[in-house]
Amino acid sequence: MTDTLTILGLESSCDDTAAAVVRHTVGEPAQILSNVVFGQCDLHAAFGGIVPEIAARAHAEKLDIVVEQALTQAKLALTEMNAIAVTAGPGLIGGVLSGVMCAKGLATGSGLPLLGINHLAGHALTPRLSDNVEYPYLMLLVSGGHCQFLIVKGVEDFTRLGGTIDDAPGEAFDKVARMLGLPQPGGPSVETEATKGDPARFRFPRPLLNRPGCDMSFSGLKTAVLRERNRLVEQHGGLREQDRADLCAGFQAAVVDVFAEKTRRAMAEYLSLSPETPSFALAGGVAANQAIRAGLETVLNEFNAQIFAPPLALCTDNAAMIAWTGIERFRAGRFDDLTLAARPRWPLDKSSPAMLGSGKKGAKA
Ligand code: KG4
Ligand code: ZN
Repeated sequence: MTDTLTILGLESSCDDTAAAVVRHTVGEPAQILSNVVFGQCDLHAAFGGIVPEIAARAHAEKLDIVVEQALTQAKLALTEMNAIAVTAGPGLIGGVLSGVMCAKGLATGSGLPLLGINHLAGHALTPRLSDNVEYPYLMLLVSGGHCQFLIVKGVEDFTRLGGTIDDAPGEAFDKVARMLGLPQPGGPSVETEATKGDPARFRFPRPLLNRPGCDMSFSGLKTAVLRERNRLVEQHGGLREQDRADLCAGFQAAVVDVFAEKTRRAMAEYLSLSPETPSFALAGGVAANQAIRAGLETVLNEFNAQIFAPPLALCTDNAAMIAWTGIERFRAGRFDDLTLAARPRWPLDKSSPAMLGSGKKGAKA
């Protein structure tokens, strides 16, 4: 087996069309030679959510372009790749299909092997791309579309300890921002507003803390904020500045508490595997939240675990994580052929699939 692998990755499962080239030599850190992302935010802005048909068409139009850019920036030709890796699910099916068809065309034209990658595996293996974290590690994936605790044991070996049973936390941040008249994406605006507020003024629920396990719920918490907002608006004829800040601080404090306690439980399960160097990795857009990070750090210090947070550009949707997962799959000798199917759902842990339906960004597992 070649010591050095260079793989082209494609990603189109949600609202980002992305292509990247990653190179890895055994025993050395991985090199991201290019990482091109074309975001579709503007195309969907007027609709208040992602429109799957618009997303699929934009992916089909942009894929060739991002592939060309990724190869140009890497200063490599397609023929210099060892394989093509593509997200084959889970996600919005039109976008996933666009990517899979594009990758099949490239593989057929060039004679290169094809690797169909699970998008969630891409997120889950990112700490190995960025920090070479050893298996097994505990991972918390929190974004606008995902929320789950995973023990990552190998390229295709995941144990899902729990996750949201309704909204993803990013979705909850976005909805709270919308109801309080704050700009999107809601996460950063709610976080900024929360710094001016009193987290103790409103005691919002900490859903599912009274139940064992690592499952979480954010929908009821969001509704509790809405109810309080409506009460304040009725009382004062509008939302006062301090009320808005206090609502944000109260909401964020509840999310911090939920993550801290569920992480404590997930950590206890992970440590029962007796990992040599206990490691915890955080990924997804919500991982940018400083209050959440601080809460998690406190918990992880209790366990003497090392915390890894890959740079944001690798935590949000991108194709470098797909190329990297392709490299790991290539080394494991796990290739696909032209029968590769696009899958709207594809749980990482078949024994413990997510319990929820489709979110605003497509299926969550
Ligand atoms: O991983 P990501 O970029 O995209 C997908 O989910 O596809 O995550 C985006 C989500 C949005 O819902 C956004 O509001 C949230 O991450 N987010 C945050 C923060 N920054 C981004 N949530 C809380 N605090 C933040 N600072
Ligand atoms: Zn994602």
